[in-house]
Amino acid sequence: MTVRVALLPGDGVGPEVIAEARRAVDALGLPIEWTELVWGSAHWHEHGRMLPDDWRESLSGHTAVLMGAVGDPSLPDHVSLWGLTLELRQRLDLWANLRPVRLLEGIPGPLSGRGPEDVDMLFLRENTEGEYSGVGGRAHQGLPTEVGIETSVFTRTGVERILRHAFELAETRRGLVTSATKSNASRFGYVLWDEVAEEVAADFPGVRYERVLVDALAARMVRDPGSLDVVAASNLFGDILTDLAAAIQGGMGIAASANVAPGTPQLGLFEPVHGSAPDIAGQGIANPVGAIWSAVLLLDHVGEQAAAGTLMAALEDVCRMGPRTRDVGGDAGTREVGEAVAARAAELSERSR
Ligand code: NAI
Ligand code: MG
Repeated sequence: MTVRVALLPGDGVGPEVIAEARRAVDALGLPIEWTELVWGSAHWHEHGRMLPDDWRESLSGHTAVLMGAVGDPSLPDHVSLWGLTLELRQRLDLWANLRPVRLLEGIPGPLSGRGPEDVDMLFLRENTEGEYSGVGGRAHQGLPTEVGIETSVFTRTGVERILRHAFELAETRRGLVTSATKSNASRFGYVLWDEVAEEVAADFPGVRYERVLVDALAARMVRDPGSLDVVAASNLFGDILTDLAAAIQGGMGIAASANVAPGTPQLGLFEPVHGSAPDIAGQGIANPVGAIWSAVLLLDHVGEQAAAGTLMAALEDVCRMGPRTRDVGGDAGTREVGEAVAARAAELSERSR
């Protein structure tokens, strides 16, 4: 059966890396039908909105979206983020943001003496509320007395579903859930978060549970990443910790993510963790690994587990043997890396037939 996937290349390096992710998936010879969406900053300049009014209709019938990134220096970042990325995550209720963090052989990282066997973390970031709920306001604008109020919203439903999923994932992995909290300083939202975590933990006697203050957790990710398995975090904490995780992996160009609503038929949205990187856009040097890895997560979501495994193996082979882009110590361009992954993926899938 044909799987329909929407491509949302977006801005900056988005189209450059998404083209390579598509090439790599196409090399697997799957019955995938792509729909290209031209939403993003150019759409905003033309229509005053990042998304068209009928965006839901455009997505209907699709099982997944593969997205690049949005954001352009010609408009404020809160416009692009709230107008597209957060709009899609919140309106589609894609409450779980999954970010696998592993070291890939051949990719230089900043942690000395650590290799692929030492780091295998899975971040699960709450994706619809917390500090990014959009609740707040500004008063006395432009006056010396001006205030800006940003309110965090934590609901029992929102906290419980993300933690429950963290425990379910830990059951299939090394059996540890680490919950990022800050309940010493934030006495309401994070105390609720901790209470719900304790309750959920009681339902999973086979999984170890620990809660760690987010600042200490950041340090532990660097000092002892091997001691972490599944990390559950709020929207803000997950955002920050996973940029640190991306740095540990070798840079922003490597990290991948999935926005999903587990246990529901909702489509999934898959995107590299990085932004539109205007500083290198248009040069053909962006690293496509994060986008291709996101396509691996997408294949898993649409039920193509074998193909996902093949593509990940191809990606790992190319990281190990090269070519690599310059952000990870190579001198190849985006396309050269993408073509190498596609060729390797075709070779591996041919072999497994
Ligand atoms: P960024 O991730 O775009 O760039 C940060 C640094 O990482 C830059 O030095 C960039 O050159 C490098 N980098 C990023 N992706 C790379 C890749 N594939 N290969 C090699 N190097 C790479 O974050 P920044 O600069 O904070 O934001 C730029 C724009 O992207 C802003 O408009 C921001 O709002 C937007 N953004 C969008 C996101 C999304 O659509 N999901 C996520 C993060 C930022
Ligand atoms: Mg971020």
